[in-house]
Parts: sequence; C-alpha cells; structure tokens
Amino acid sequence: MQKFITKSEKQTLALGEKLAHYFQGGEIIGLIGELGAGKTVLIKGMAKQLNINKTITSPTFVLMKVYSINNKQSIIENLVHVDAYRLNSGQDLIEIGLEDWLGKSNTITAIEWADRVKDILPKSKIIVKIKFGKKQNEREIKISNLKSLWKKDTNQ
Ligand SMILES: Nc1ncnc2c1ncn2[C@@H]1O[C@H](COP(=O)(O)OP(=O)(O)OP(=O)(O)O)[C@@H](O)[C@H]1O
Ligand SMILES: [Mg+2]
Repeated sequence: MQKFITKSEKQTLALGEKLAHYFQGGEIIGLIGELGAGKTVLIKGMAKQLNINKTITSPTFVLMKVYSINNKQSIIENLVHVDAYRLNSGQDLIEIGLEDWLGKSNTITAIEWADRVKDILPKSKIIVKIKFGKKQNEREIKISNLKSLWKKDTNQ
C-alpha cells in the first residue's frame, strides 16, 4: 500500500496521470471514497494521460461509459468508466456487458464505488481509497497493489 496526500484538485489530477503512465493494459482500478472525495478527478487525470480529449463525467445513470483511445503507440484502446453508486451488487454490470471489457489487455477499467460491486472484481485489481484530509482541499489517497503497476519500472 502506498499513501499520497494531495492538496488540490490539480494535484489529484496529476496523480491520476502519473498512475496511468504505468498502465500496461488490462488494469482494473477500484475507487472507494465518499461523495466528492475525488474519484472522478483521479480518473480524469488517467484519461488525460491516456490521450482522451472528451470530457469525463460520472456515468451515474448509465452505469458505464466507454472511451476509445486513438494512439497507435499504445496497446491500450479503451478506458471504461463505471459508477456503481446506485448498485448493491455487480449483477447489473454483468447484464450491461462489463465482462466484455473487464481485464482485457487493450482496456483499462476504472470503477467508482468499487466496494459495492466486490462480487465481480478479480483479486488482481488496484484499489484506490480516497479520504478527506484535515484541511479543506486535502485528500488522503491510499493505493494498494501498486507494485504490480510499477513493475515496469523495476524491470528496466
Ligand atoms: N485534493 C483534491 N483532490 C480532488 N478533488 C478535490 C481536491 N480538493 C478539492 N477537490 C474537489 O472535490 C471534488 C471532487 O469531486 P469528484 O467528482 O471527483 O468526487 P467523486 O469522488 O467522484 O464523487 P461522486 O461519488 O459524487 O462521484 C471536486 O469538486 C474537486 O474540485
Ligand atoms: Mg464521481
């Protein structure tokens, strides 16, 4: 587990970019944290690093949005953004076809409120827990299983 403190939205965006820099394809990122914690902000940072120019908005009602990525240099072709806020299990996500994307080597899947759909998530996921800090714009961001992401670095 690795812990980060961010002091502004901008810093959380930058952390999302940094994480996404290490993506190799197939990563599943489960985000846990209260309303307004910064889950979407972190995913926006990832999207920026992945070269997605579209505005990222929480798919609260549609549950899932798929952004395709046009980058011939990368094997990552899709970012799937899921919002499980209204769910009590992952069954609804199975019904709308999430399994077609989950863990695919050309796809990154980021799931807000991942604690509500634990039943369908593999062990290999990266878990991001975001908490409000003591000061207004402060956030404590704990990331588990980061080593699997950063192995690319240690291999070099
Ligand atoms: N350090 C920070 N990191 C991220 N966001 C911050 C930070 N400080 C303040 N904010 C603000 O907190 C809010 C985070 O909103 P965001 O939509 O990312 O939350 P969320 O966790 O996705 O909530 P929801 O569960 O409603 O989807 C934004 O308004 C952002 O400007
Ligand atoms: Mg959100």
